[in-house]
Amino acid sequence: MLTAKLSVTDTGRLRDETAEPEVLRPAGHPNNAVRARQLSKRFGQNTILDRLDLDIRPGEFIALLGRSGSGKTTLLRALAGLDQISSGQLQVPQARAAVFQEPRLMPWKRAWRNVVMGLHIPQARERARQALAEVGLAHRENAWPGTLSGGEAQRVALARALVREPQLLLLDEPFAALDALTRIRMHQLILSLWRVHQPAVLLVTHDVDEAVLLADRVLVLDGGRIVADLRIDQQRPRSAENHAFQKVRTQLLQLLGVELDADAGAPKPVLHLVPPSPAAPFNLSNFSI
Ligand SMILES: Nc1ncnc2c1ncn2[C@@H]1O[C@H](COP(=O)(O)OP(=O)(O)OP(=O)(O)O)[C@@H](O)[C@H]1O
Ligand SMILES: [Mg+2]
Repeated sequence: MLTAKLSVTDTGRLRDETAEPEVLRPAGHPNNAVRARQLSKRFGQNTILDRLDLDIRPGEFIALLGRSGSGKTTLLRALAGLDQISSGQLQVPQARAAVFQEPRLMPWKRAWRNVVMGLHIPQARERARQALAEVGLAHRENAWPGTLSGGEAQRVALARALVREPQLLLLDEPFAALDALTRIRMHQLILSLWRVHQPAVLLVTHDVDEAVLLADRVLVLDGGRIVADLRIDQQRPRSAENHAFQKVRTQLLQLLGVELDADAGAPKPVLHLVPPSPAAPFNLSNFSI
């Protein structure tokens, strides 16, 4: 795995160490897909990320919760390399892709051209077609973005991420603007794609149930740091009706400052890392969003 190493000098200058990418050892080695140490991000006088430490293992599915304004997008943008960090160290894979709440498609480019936009790869159209097929949109490869539904447009954005074969897939509330039914189907799709491609995933969400349904670990960001790191070891597919699920949900809601009457005595979360889930077979024909 190629890594981009970003660090900041004592004078605050970003040191670009990506010119000679380091080769990470295979999964199983202590090396991680993401390794952040003392990572800080300031906007003027405001410290948003405050000496944050974070490890994500290759292939691990992480959900990140936190109050509005807690810095989730700031962290995601730093991991994506879209913003410079103010200080600290950050190690991420070279192959990264991000999907945001809005699909960010170029309206003057057909779906398949959006998928391979900015890439100079052989057989671009065929690669785009394959990626669109993976998200169940082979039949819309020539569609203009303006003719796509919200769910379809988001799937094109996913295809655009996939075609980059990311080792780190960054998702910033990608389902937030979708209706409930489309959201459920997107959950299934994202899990299936994750199993097939096995990137590390960081999913930012406000939806506690979504986090517990999907992730290996759920993190809570507060005060510029990761204040909780809950391992979710329930088998997938998970059910919100399940007692263990509800217990974790209650813990998370309490951590997020939501007042709850019931189950106030739920045990506090513990901090520990988990290995990636084993890959499972995937059948795309199950999806028709
Ligand atoms: N470019 C910027 N310049 C100045 N301040 C910024 C900038 N980007 C973000 N901030 C501030 O950083 C803080 C964290 O913003 P961020 O978007 O990361 O929060 P968030 O956790 O993603 O919130 P939400 O859940 O509402 O999306 C906010 O106070 C925001 O105003
Ligand atoms: Mg945000």
